[in-house]
Amino acid sequence: MAVFLLLAGMVVVGYMIFHNIFVKGAVCKSNVKLYGKTVIVTGSNTGIGKMTALDLARRGARVILACRNKQRAEAALADIKRESGSNEVVFMHLDLGSLKSVRSFAETFLKTERRLDLLINNAGIYMQGSTEDGLGMMFGVNHIGHFLLTNLLLDRLKECGPSRVVNVASLGHNFGKIDFNCLSTHKELGVGESATDVFNIYCNSKLCNVVFTHELAKRLKDTNVTCYSLHPGIIETELGRYANSAFLMLLKPISMLFFKNSVAGSQTTLHCALQEGLEPLSGCYFSNCTVRNVYPKARDDAVAKKLWEVSESLCGLL
Ligand SMILES: NC(=O)c1ccc[n+]([C@@H]2O[C@H](COP(=O)([O-])OP(=O)(O)OC[C@H]3O[C@@H](n4cnc5c(N)ncnc54)[C@H](OP(=O)(O)O)[C@@H]3O)[C@@H](O)[C@H]2O)c1
Ligand SMILES: *[C@@H]1O[C@H](CO)[C@@H](O)[C@H](O)[C@H]1NC(C)=O
Ligand SMILES: *[C@@H]1O[C@H](CO)[C@@H](O)[C@H](O)[C@H]1NC(C)=O
Repeated sequence: MAVFLLLAGMVVVGYMIFHNIFVKGAVCKSNVKLYGKTVIVTGSNTGIGKMTALDLARRGARVILACRNKQRAEAALADIKRESGSNEVVFMHLDLGSLKSVRSFAETFLKTERRLDLLINNAGIYMQGSTEDGLGMMFGVNHIGHFLLTNLLLDRLKECGPSRVVNVASLGHNFGKIDFNCLSTHKELGVGESATDVFNIYCNSKLCNVVFTHELAKRLKDTNVTCYSLHPGIIETELGRYANSAFLMLLKPISMLFFKNSVAGSQTTLHCALQEGLEPLSGCYFSNCTVRNVYPKARDDAVAKKLWEVSESLCGLL
């Protein structure tokens, strides 16, 4: 078993090395400017979200950094203002692990801002635990927090159309499954503390991102709002910060050499947010700035509808 895992690991790493050296990532080709437009990027104090926010600020957008940690967000705010030369960047507190915080963010935003052209649901966590509301941490933050946030902001997006919602999912959604029985008993899509359990539960939450996007697109038909999900690439960020430390030490040299940086990691998000003419692909999943097919489980109408309804009830939208 151990030998098999080691071999499988070597194959995966070997492939990633090959992929990142020999296969160049695509870049967002749109040079659209965003003067007069307002965008929200969740989890934009570091990693992919920070580089996404910086790019949008450079294009002239008013950028709302929706982050949970004031100190980290204010440091990022200063960096983004300096590097973009824009003053149209603001921090608003948002903790996606708290339904109360999501509601209060939406209320403040809707009261103080006039537009919303792009909602970028980027924040993500790779960690076991529970949210303030007793949901599993990864399901609660990665899916439910963004589900509630999106719903609370939908009317504003509709008023400002053409507008877009971009959900940062992951290639890992391919390994995910949505177990409604587990959800009803544990308010999480899996149980366990082992490295494999955590990985699976993360993948389950990322499958929710893709499935949510599928259902959202259907519900947004006949509006001027479209939505997209995506895999950003294998990117060196802080995402693994809570993972097992031996695992992290092993991963560090590999990630330094072969993982892409956050600028590369923001390209597919930017493509989904900005590329002209993407509207007919609303609800689709992208990787490397290209639309991709997904497995049937990621576009199952019945599962998508059920996930929507369960999510509504879990965040008290009904
Ligand atoms: N890196 C990769 O290879 C990779 C691959 C596939 C998909 N992704 C996805 O890409 C997205 C961005 O991840 P990243 O790699 O840039 O990771 P990261 O460097 O860890 O950034 C994640 C961001 O999410 C924020 N966040 C976490 N929990 C939050 C909460 N409860 N409320 C509000 N914000 C919260 C973090 O804030 P704090 O700094 O305060 O913790 C941080 O700003 C995630 O959705 C991730 O699943 C990444
Ligand atoms: C990503 O896109 C670039 C440019 O469009 C292309 O050269 C490359 O082969 C693509 N990589 C993958 C893995 O599809
Ligand atoms: C969508 O946008 C078009 C062009 O701006 C507009 O004519 C139409 O009324 C909008 N539709 C809705 C449902 O808002």
